[in-house]
Amino acid sequence: MSMYQLPEHSLLRKKQFLYGVATASFQIEGAADSRLPCIWDTFCATAGKIKDGSDGKTACDHLRLWRDDLDLIESLGVDAYRLSLSWPRLIQLDGELNPTGLQFYIDLLDELKARNIKSFVTLYHWDLPQHLEDKGGWLNRETAYKFADYVEKVSTAFGDRVYSYATLNEPFCSSFLGYEVGVHAPGLTGRGNGRKSAHHLLLAHGLGLQVLRRTAPHALNGLVLNFTPCYPHTDSAADKAVAEQADQYYNQWYLQPVMTGQYPDYFQKLIAEEKPDIQPGDMALISQPLDFLGVNFYTRHVYTANSDQEFAVVDMKDAEKTDIGWEIYPQAFYDLLTSMHQKYKLPPIYITENGAAGADHVEEGQVHDEQRQRYYQLHLNAVHQAVEAGVDVQGYFAWSLMDNFEWAEGYSKRFGIVYVDYNTQQRTIKQSGHAYRQLLQSRT
Ligand code: NOJ
Repeated sequence: MSMYQLPEHSLLRKKQFLYGVATASFQIEGAADSRLPCIWDTFCATAGKIKDGSDGKTACDHLRLWRDDLDLIESLGVDAYRLSLSWPRLIQLDGELNPTGLQFYIDLLDELKARNIKSFVTLYHWDLPQHLEDKGGWLNRETAYKFADYVEKVSTAFGDRVYSYATLNEPFCSSFLGYEVGVHAPGLTGRGNGRKSAHHLLLAHGLGLQVLRRTAPHALNGLVLNFTPCYPHTDSAADKAVAEQADQYYNQWYLQPVMTGQYPDYFQKLIAEEKPDIQPGDMALISQPLDFLGVNFYTRHVYTANSDQEFAVVDMKDAEKTDIGWEIYPQAFYDLLTSMHQKYKLPPIYITENGAAGADHVEEGQVHDEQRQRYYQLHLNAVHQAVEAGVDVQGYFAWSLMDNFEWAEGYSKRFGIVYVDYNTQQRTIKQSGHAYRQLLQSRT
């Protein structure tokens, strides 16, 4: 395949539809010794937590190679670059801005502007300063206020350099994976921990957004959520009921309070000790209007009632999967976007992440990532169909610009449209990346 195909009339073929590539600080930056430690440093240093035993100390060495990486981004012909800021690089122990960290991002943002690439900046992509975790992390309500303070300082210092801010990336992952099942940092468990941290994250979003309205009134300010749509295994009422409950628990938990100021009905099923402490005014802060909603989509889950577990996921054995074991099911992307559109009065949507992991290799200077190309084609089609059905999608970011530290999977899972050789730090654009560039160039 040489280029992704979309109908001539599709909005996705027009220059007004924004295309970008995405990364996150901990996953690419490296240079861990020039910032404060974060919860992922600690998690990586704990035996058995990261599959390949790796860490983020060097990663893609982006802190050193960032100018070359901007050349690479520019060469892909994208309109926008989605990055995240490292809180522990920007704020010192005394709560003041770290001038070196600040200068790094200012230089980067200025350079993006000079190249006419819009900056989509995520303020929190999971790298919580460790000293805040030592005081309870997201289980401590105070962390939300610390976040607002960080947002205030940083966004004031950046002035008008940033095109778009997202307060949080995927609060589901921070709370559920980090505090409820413990497969992500800080590795805590328990339903109460999961739901309490989720509330404080959403509160942090609300407080952060309130700050941004003052400090960055011209920026496009919003929130990035991930969705794994939930399907019943059979048509049975029991399977349907489980899928619906799972959807509330995993997906709507983060969207519904933002859209309506209320948690899903499942909230009532929590026992008292599991319920977050919701203080007066919290839900109003959480449900402030957004300029955009970022949607991250990769796969779906299928649920069965035929199990002792409350939410039992069925392994779809015959389905095609990516290298990380996630089913390729683009219909869920369309279903997700159209059902959200039916349920809520949505702000403009940006697809802030979509992509596939592959067991890639460089052969004679090329990376033939057939499956990833097919994945992008199918998912761009799904976005196109959703737009045709009336969903206001204004942009799309490929996850990721380049292979990077894939959290608990370490460096073993490659999501880039650019290949990274971690021994030499050489970058090689994969076929999927060339196809992306061609699609972007062909727009009218
Ligand atoms: C979700 C996260 O935002 C990103 O950090 C991660 O690498 C990708 N999806 C793939 O799992």
